[in-house]
Amino acid sequence: MTQTLGMMSNIEKEELVSIWSKVLSIQTRFFGPEEVKVLRAWGFGDTEKGVLDAGCGNGDYGLFLAEQFPHTQFYGIERNDKFIEEFNSKNEELVASNYSIAKCDMDSDIFPQEIANKFEQIILRLVLQHVSKPISILQYLYEQLPKNGRIYVVEEDDGFFKIHPDCKAFYQVVNILKMVGNHAGTARYIGREIPELLSKSGFNVKRVKAVLHNNYELGSKLMEYLVATVKLCQLTSPSLVSPNEPERIEKEFERYLDKYGDSWFAVYPEVITMGEKR
Ligand SMILES: C[S@@+](CC[C@H](N)C(=O)[O-])C[C@H]1O[C@@H](n2cnc3c(N)ncnc32)[C@H](O)[C@@H]1O
Repeated sequence: MTQTLGMMSNIEKEELVSIWSKVLSIQTRFFGPEEVKVLRAWGFGDTEKGVLDAGCGNGDYGLFLAEQFPHTQFYGIERNDKFIEEFNSKNEELVASNYSIAKCDMDSDIFPQEIANKFEQIILRLVLQHVSKPISILQYLYEQLPKNGRIYVVEEDDGFFKIHPDCKAFYQVVNILKMVGNHAGTARYIGREIPELLSKSGFNVKRVKAVLHNNYELGSKLMEYLVATVKLCQLTSPSLVSPNEPERIEKEFERYLDKYGDSWFAVYPEVITMGEKR
């Protein structure tokens, strides 16, 4: 069976590339800072050599890491030409000297020789939920690491997605993610599966942490993220989600926020796992 890419298949049309870029950018800005606190505490970036950013998309997150760890060299690899084009078209001033992207499909390509052996850590963020054979990606990456090299995996896990008091719009978003995700083949509970997947791929699992980003840290930005994901789902599966759904859900969120002020509590769940090559 060949690898399939779920919601990330065929991202070529401008509208879809652009909504993905928006969602990737929101994910970087809203969730990146808390992730970096955990990663830093676990020794991420603390390496004489560089860090591989595997499945780096348009490089938005990698550039954020490059800024957070200015003395570390980051090497992105990505299969989608549109994301690479987008990165290459960024203004020179926006592109950090410690970050670059090479084209590489981890399913079929020989690893780019110009960056082989230049890193001893890997960040793999929000990639495995989309692929049908996550173990083959982990095994591919295992081969590229030196002994004792580390992999840091950041993934979502929809099972912890919660809000209080009840909010219809929130559950509608979760339902849309479920519908479109199931249709496309997204592994929605992948966060909790990562330790086992890493072990099966040969890594020693060293650390696991569930991070529940919440509205007290994020404010109503959390709703902005959820509306953007509905837009993304709509463009991915127009037969499952009607075009007016994002706007309708946004209005419902506004009514909810007006009604409850700050007296609500919602979380967006990620699981961060670190493994070491034996
Ligand atoms: C949701 S994006 C995450 C991008 C980035 N890691 C981030 O956190 O913003 C997942 C990315 O993984 C890439 N990807 C999936 N399978 C891949 C493969 N076999 N080889 C290279 N890239 C892959 C997709 O093309 C997509 O850009």
